[in-house]
Amino acid sequence: MKPFSVMLSMLAIGITSSAAMADGASLPNVSPANSDLVNRGAYIARAADCMACHNEDYTGGNPIATPMGDIYSTNITPSKRYGIGKYTEKDFKNALQKGRAPNHMLYPAMPYPSYNGMTDEDISALFAYMQTVPAVNNAPEHKTDLPFPFNIRSLMLGWNAINVPSTTKRTGLNETQQRGEYLVNNLEHCGTCHTPRNSTMGFDKGNYLSGAPLGNWHAPNITPDKSSGIGSWSEKDIVTYLRTGQLDQRAYAGGPMGEAVAHSTRYLKDEDLGAIASYLKAVPAIQTDDKVTEIDVARLPRPINMSITHDLIAQKDYLARAKTSAGSDSNSPKALYLAACGSCHGVSGYAQPDSGYAPIVGLSSIRRDKPDALVNVIVYGIDSASNTSPKMPGFSQDLNAEQIAGIANYVRVNMGGLQDSKVSAADVDRIMTAKPEQPFLIKYAGILAWLGVIVAVLLLGLLVWWLMRRASRSH
Ligand code: HEC
Ligand code: HEC
Ligand code: HEC
Repeated sequence: MKPFSVMLSMLAIGITSSAAMADGASLPNVSPANSDLVNRGAYIARAADCMACHNEDYTGGNPIATPMGDIYSTNITPSKRYGIGKYTEKDFKNALQKGRAPNHMLYPAMPYPSYNGMTDEDISALFAYMQTVPAVNNAPEHKTDLPFPFNIRSLMLGWNAINVPSTTKRTGLNETQQRGEYLVNNLEHCGTCHTPRNSTMGFDKGNYLSGAPLGNWHAPNITPDKSSGIGSWSEKDIVTYLRTGQLDQRAYAGGPMGEAVAHSTRYLKDEDLGAIASYLKAVPAIQTDDKVTEIDVARLPRPINMSITHDLIAQKDYLARAKTSAGSDSNSPKALYLAACGSCHGVSGYAQPDSGYAPIVGLSSIRRDKPDALVNVIVYGIDSASNTSPKMPGFSQDLNAEQIAGIANYVRVNMGGLQDSKVSAADVDRIMTAKPEQPFLIKYAGILAWLGVIVAVLLLGLLVWWLMRRASRSH
């Protein structure tokens, strides 16, 4: 995992500098020595974000945790023994579009319900590119080994019949928007995080892109609804966010979104990011109850001077002075914020952009009606893959619910510009207990629940079989 994290750090450094770039950051895997087809394939791999799960070197081994056990991504380098070196192009197409590997069915942890719509042309290019990736003759350290009945992979056939493909094409889109639709639905699979699930844990198509829980995160509503979605964002805002992972004083791509930006969207061509933005403006606006208060710039704090966000010494002094002037009550929300958060995010939330701590002033995640996203971040911290700065720790051990609520309110009012915020200790308790004890990473939380559905059906079947057997024996 070492080289992988180093690579990610390099990516993260790129994130900050890519803002100035006109087009996508240069692809580390594109070379003039390769054919056009291969280079096109390298771009498809980026746009389809294969690396988020299979790693930058495609060796796999990333766990997607479920209570039934971890599902690990596999080695997809051209190694004949450990990877997909024996795959024909047809095998590759079947794996991507149907979740069918040569010898077994795949779990939808692999987003084939989205890749189902990938064009033959793109699959060919991707296949050609995958042949040029260095073969790694190693199996990932861990292998998926789910207990019965989850190890019966052919059960996926039933699930696939109702849930693949995960999206349908919209009518009435112009050419740019059609390209955007293809990118959003089929390559980037944005909906795997942003679309809620139905009872079978397939996409809830009626609530397309309207936001969904994601382990300790929440993927927000990205439909063009003005009050709860991103209706107030311009197309340019969307492009900036996907290119840089930030939208100044508006939004920040942390956690899973930070990874999507670091591995994938920051590499896309301007025209492709533009197409995504244009398409996101064309999807039906869906209003949810998690409204975002419109940003009121006048209510946001000003940095004490223009240079302080880039001057660590000045910040340290400023923080020390602020702590003294916060008074003797070390339990006041302001004192708590300064003590727990101030060293990284700064007295007024502007942080230290140069060192990668997130400026939190004005972020959408602190302006939402539901404080869940903010409270979760404070409770669990951020195990960020895409940021080089020291991790944000979780505060569940050091702060009690009352104190966390106080900090949340302080941040929402002072850095989010809200008129008022009434997060209570009970809210914090609710949010904390709504989660499993062991915070586990469910990148694609859906998997969990559909496995649950399958088990329920199976257990029911077993019960019926057992009852019938007993009934026939007693005769
Ligand atoms: C969201 C995570 C995720 C993404 C993104 C992803 N995969 Fe996978 N992939 C997995 C997991 C997990 C498995 C193993 C599934 C299983 O064991 O059933 C897998 C399995 C595979 C397999 C089957 C290999 C085998 O025989 O075990 C292939 C081929 C594959 N992925 C290719 C790709 C390609 C190419 C891309 C990008 C276009 C991609 N994957 C993107 C998670 C992902
Ligand atoms: C792995 C899960 C995942 C994927 C894939 C993903 N997102 Fe996100 N997205 C998130 C999460 C989580 C957030 C919240 C981030 C935060 O607040 O730090 C987010 C935030 C956003 C936001 C900011 C919304 C706001 O109100 O602040 C936009 C816009 C967005 N995503 C668009 C996209 C698009 C477009 C795609 C596909 C190209 C995509 N996302 C793919 C999980 C994901
Ligand atoms: C050790 C430094 C550190 C401390 C202490 C810290 N943070 Fe953070 N925080 C970070 C980093 C780094 C990120 C960006 C993570 C990423 O890029 O995914 C972040 C991100 C955030 C975000 C953005 C979440 C989003 O929408 O993606 C918020 C809000 C936040 N922190 C609030 C707080 C609060 C409130 C406290 C105090 C209780 C705090 N942080 C303490 C380092 C810190």
